[in-house]
Amino acid sequence: MALTIFRARSICDCLGETQRRAAALAELLRAGDVVCLTGQLGAGKTYFTKALVSGLGGQADEVTSPTFVLMQTYQARLTVYHFDAYRLSGGRQMRSIGSDEIFYGDGVSVVEWADRVVEALPPERFDVHLIATGPTRRRLEITGRGRHQAQCVACLAAGRLLEPESPAN
Ligand SMILES: Nc1ncnc2c1ncn2[C@@H]1O[C@H](COP(=O)(O)OP(=O)(O)O)[C@@H](O)[C@H]1O
Ligand SMILES: [Mg+2]
Repeated sequence: MALTIFRARSICDCLGETQRRAAALAELLRAGDVVCLTGQLGAGKTYFTKALVSGLGGQADEVTSPTFVLMQTYQARLTVYHFDAYRLSGGRQMRSIGSDEIFYGDGVSVVEWADRVVEALPPERFDVHLIATGPTRRRLEITGRGRHQAQCVACLAAGRLLEPESPAN
């Protein structure tokens, strides 16, 4: 059966607009959700993670790019496992640090530089892509892959935080 996919996007003109969308997504997250972040250095992947953690009731200031430790954990409504795949060689190495157990566990996983470890990502996930289009402006694209994930993105679109690109199918 084909995976249900819902894509939506938005232009965020300032930090607050990115923050609001990440926080709104956080409210909809449930155990086992995986949020995959892509975009160039400085696009806002770590900023989005901070806002997500804050939206889950955790401490945003604990969030830093875990480039040297590979993964950091934050306590919030759901435990957040924050990966940075920048220095990983690929999906195999991601799996070797135990990503499967964490992805399918009882927390929320966030993966920065997810495009470096695509083979290790679960098919049902949120893909969040950020593009810098100005000093404080970002283009935000969120794809919900899977029934629950697609519903979450559709919900953000219904709340006018994102513009839908395709209807749920
Ligand atoms: N609208 C915006 N959304 C997200 N980040 C923004 C925005 N405007 C400016 N920024 C800044 O861009 C930078 C993004 O850095 P960071 O989140 O560390 O990027 P990455 O993790 O993708 O390398 C931060 O300094 C943040 O304050
Ligand atoms: Mg980062």
